[in-house]
Amino acid sequence: GGRAALAQTLWEQSALKQILKRGELRVGMEAGYMPFEMRDKSGKIVGFDVDLARLMARYMGVKLNLVNTQWDGIIPALLTAKFDLLMSGMTITPERNLQVNFADPYVSIGQTVLIRKGLIGTISKREQLDDAKYVIATKLGTTGDIAARKYFAKARFKAFETEAEAVLEVRNGRADGFVYDLPFNTIYAGRYPGEVGFLNETFTDEPIGWAIRKGDPDFLNWLNNFLRVIRADGSYDALYQKWFQS
Ligand code: ARG
Repeated sequence: GGRAALAQTLWEQSALKQILKRGELRVGMEAGYMPFEMRDKSGKIVGFDVDLARLMARYMGVKLNLVNTQWDGIIPALLTAKFDLLMSGMTITPERNLQVNFADPYVSIGQTVLIRKGLIGTISKREQLDDAKYVIATKLGTTGDIAARKYFAKARFKAFETEAEAVLEVRNGRADGFVYDLPFNTIYAGRYPGEVGFLNETFTDEPIGWAIRKGDPDFLNWLNNFLRVIRADGSYDALYQKWFQS
């Protein structure tokens, strides 16, 4: 019959079916976004997304292959099947959702600001940075970049390819502020106390989700139920504690 044949065709073409057949889950991410995906001292990619990907691969009974991919090409790389799944601390936005599908959010974040040392004491509220005399550093193509241009419309901007370059600009005093996701800025501020100031009150609310190619209901169903199961059995909480409570 038509319906059974259609279901069979969808499943045969599902990324999940391909993963099982290949015996390998390929996950796209851009290392550099603490604590989701970053390099440890030996250069290995580690983080919250990495541990979740490892758990996922274990349930699938396949090997895990992390595909490090530049942020500006990360959605095109998913669409051209350079990997099966995008796990990269990506904010779910309606615009991105026109190109890809998202599994249910697994964490929420908001935008915050790191300020240069010389402004500590002078600037205590983000509103004060909305001034033509200030230069804001951002990472290109992120929700931080979009939010910065909206909330600091009067300021001037310097956008960078990586968060590392953008935040260094503030630490070196060449920019006044760096607008980025709370988890990253929290870790950075903790690592360089006294060298940067931290306005840690979030001014956006952003759900974060894993992205897959459109037209794949079987994979989407698996991912959402995986999330449900690991939330229920405590393994999600254990990993969250590991990466966010230090
Ligand atoms: N949440 C932000 C966004 O979606 C930044 C994510 C950056 N992720 C990364 N792995 N570099 O735009």
